[in-house]
Amino acid sequence: MEQGEGRVCVTGAGGFVASWLVKLLLSKGYMVHGTVRNPDDEKNNHLKSLEKAQENLQLFKADLLDYDSLYAAIEGCSGVFHVASPVPPSSVANPETELLEPAVRGTLNVLKACSETGVERVVVVSSTGAVTLNPNWPPNKPMDEDCWTDIDYCRKSKVWLNWYCIAKTTAEREALKYAENTGLDVVTVCPSYVFGPLLQPTMNSSTQVFIDLFNGRFETVENSIWTIVDVRDVAEALLLVYKKKEASGRYICAPHPVQIHSLVEKLKSKYPGYNYPKSYIEVDPEAKPSSEKLKRLGWECRSLEETIVDSVEYYQEAGILIKD
Ligand SMILES: NC(=O)c1ccc[n+]([C@@H]2O[C@H](COP(=O)([O-])OP(=O)(O)OC[C@H]3O[C@@H](n4cnc5c(N)ncnc54)[C@H](OP(=O)(O)O)[C@@H]3O)[C@@H](O)[C@H]2O)c1
Repeated sequence: MEQGEGRVCVTGAGGFVASWLVKLLLSKGYMVHGTVRNPDDEKNNHLKSLEKAQENLQLFKADLLDYDSLYAAIEGCSGVFHVASPVPPSSVANPETELLEPAVRGTLNVLKACSETGVERVVVVSSTGAVTLNPNWPPNKPMDEDCWTDIDYCRKSKVWLNWYCIAKTTAEREALKYAENTGLDVVTVCPSYVFGPLLQPTMNSSTQVFIDLFNGRFETVENSIWTIVDVRDVAEALLLVYKKKEASGRYICAPHPVQIHSLVEKLKSKYPGYNYPKSYIEVDPEAKPSSEKLKRLGWECRSLEETIVDSVEYYQEAGILIKD
């Protein structure tokens, strides 16, 4: 697509990932339509003070379940980044209506509006939650874009987070099916755990998970693998797949797999004095997602160390990480 500057829409603009994407797009000279559920809510004020926001950012009030509101935001745009989706911090009372419906119907609403307004490419943010929950994948084989989360397996499990994975998997599958049926150009990106400094004033779920490693919430944890990606590198990945004409299908964006025990040891040596987990439950070997396809497209990312340092320094300055 290499189309340079243009007018694009970002759904859920005030969220953790989307705020960095809006910042990046503005810095590259794009005109941005950002959707938020409430433009007057103070929690979205950070968007208005981004560089070039006064001239080039327009906020639209839109809910994923309200087609007309999405249509109004998307009309006139040549590209759309569909980032909005519920990412709850803990279990929800009714996952079908609170998670699945906005994720799946919301995505289809966005895609339909894109078709009707002549959008050239849509980038849909999925998740490695739509990739890695697959018990049939060999543990020693890196998980590539052919690997899909097994929805039946997730439905049988009692882990609440699996509902999030069901929602993301279904939404991504539906998005790719919609593209196949209609010819709309849809590319999906599947980030793993996203960490990094925050632009928004509110706490988001993946940041809270990281913070909980420091604050004693986990006395004993499963020594599983967390695969980490920097929020600024996710924004770069989204722009890259938007711009590269040859991009197609799904892209895993998950560069840094690390076992929790080893992550905590790293954190302890650099930032002593926090209430870290004390014991670990060993788990079976797990396959790791591979970002090779995205790297072949030209994506580069920060080291895990840089993400950790920038995140922790931000949390300390913002007063969201307090020493014991
Ligand atoms: N953070 C991660 O570790 C991670 C990893 C993989 C994938 N992702 C994906 O990345 C995207 C952004 O996540 P995030 O971490 O940035 O979370 P976030 O900060 O919670 O952002 C989610 C955004 O979605 C919006 N939203 C939720 N339900 C909506 C609805 N019904 N209508 C309109 N907007 C709605 C929220 O708006 P309000 O502010 O109004 O609630 C918020 O702006 C999501 O698609 C998520 O699944 C995140």
